[in-house]
Amino acid sequence: MTELERTSLIAHACATRQTAHAPYSKFLVGAALLTESGEIIVGSNVENASYGLTICAERVAFGTAITSGHRRFQALAVATAGGHAPCGACRQVASEFCDDLLVLLIDADRPDRVVEATLAELLPGRFVFPAS
Ligand code: THU
Repeated sequence: MTELERTSLIAHACATRQTAHAPYSKFLVGAALLTESGEIIVGSNVENASYGLTICAERVAFGTAITSGHRRFQALAVATAGGHAPCGACRQVASEFCDDLLVLLIDADRPDRVVEATLAELLPGRFVFPAS
């Protein structure tokens, strides 16, 4: 990932956060995926009156990327108030497509201070479908 791509990925995660539909929690999440080919695919959280139907921003981004034909990714940026890490479900979904992945955790109020983690750090012992 180039410095330009990193800056753009962070900006996309922060901007996409504003598209979230989060009237219940009011917790806006923006996710931006950098594909292997250098494209940026975004997602935000989509809540529902039936709370359990809510979809996280990261999974919206992965779903969009996959249905656009992408399978390999360089990095995932997640923007929240406070710079929170992705939930366990989103980590598992990311692991379906990435043996390892750079994850940028962005505090939307301080986008200059990015915390870096890897998917392997965030999700040790991921579930892998048993070989038959
Ligand atoms: N949320 C995400 O979008 N990603 C996560 O990794 C954790 C939580 C959303 C779901 C819900 O709309 C709100 O944040 C509060 O849980």
